[in-house]
Amino acid sequence: MTQLAVQLNRLKLANPILVASGTFGYAREMAAYVDFTKLGGIIPKTITAEPRRGNPPPRTVETPSGMLNSIGLDNDGIDYFLETHVPYLTSLGTAVIANIAGRNVDEFVTMASRLGKVDRLAALELNISCPNVSGGVDFGTNPEMAADVVSSVRDACDLPVIAKLTPNVTSIVTIAQAAADAGADAVSLVNTFLGMAIDWRKRRPILGNKLGGLSGPAIKPLALRCVYQVAQNVEVPIIGVGGIGTIDDVMEFLVAGASAVQIGTANFYNPSVSERLVTEIADCLRDQACNSIADLVGSIHHESPNS
Ligand code: SIN
Repeated sequence: MTQLAVQLNRLKLANPILVASGTFGYAREMAAYVDFTKLGGIIPKTITAEPRRGNPPPRTVETPSGMLNSIGLDNDGIDYFLETHVPYLTSLGTAVIANIAGRNVDEFVTMASRLGKVDRLAALELNISCPNVSGGVDFGTNPEMAADVVSSVRDACDLPVIAKLTPNVTSIVTIAQAAADAGADAVSLVNTFLGMAIDWRKRRPILGNKLGGLSGPAIKPLALRCVYQVAQNVEVPIIGVGGIGTIDDVMEFLVAGASAVQIGTANFYNPSVSERLVTEIADCLRDQACNSIADLVGSIHHESPNS
């Protein structure tokens, strides 16, 4: 029997396949396409203390092998989330990891303490990395601020805490180390890369907010590099995210050092992909004669391919 379960400090998942925040709505939208009970977990769209209208349109644009978004954390706020989405999400038979963003530490703490009282939530993912809102990314680009928000949230509730980090920094290792030292159970690596699209005929940016976050296959090598660097330097479980859409992608992230992965942009072009990957990872483990996911995590050989 292969063992698909993974343990990320205080968070146990039935398998390592999660769906990424902002790519799976609040799950209702995906019920026709995915058997939720098969997934390692669901991370719904980021919620904030108050409802947000988000950024002006256009908010998405397709790019070669990727997608730029500047949604701006459009959501109905935590009250609506607790009343309307939580009862549904926690009935789905899979781990639900609420993703929260605050404008300051107090907002993170207030939301965390409210969510900490909800039965059957598995963990909190702190979105300290959204490139599309002013203030949002600051927590994730400064090690002291990242540590402050992680430790404050840890003190405010008993749920496992995951810090979702931005790649738009000089050293992601420094930020991951700060989050780990502050008590993060895991780090999600990475949120989107800041980018831009231009309609040169009109001499204008295409996105309403001018800049946006790039996701999808285009960023996979960049995300993989972040996972590898952090895995080599920081003792913290890693959840890999960035352009993952095939079983080979999943395996590359695990071998690089991720203990679990999130499927993001692939949900938009293949809404059933996450469920299929759960089946495929079980097959792949058997083919590799591995007993558990842990046998694969960080199993990369460090010699160069030519040695
Ligand atoms: C957004 O709502 O702008 C995207 C979320 C994110 O990048 O964290």
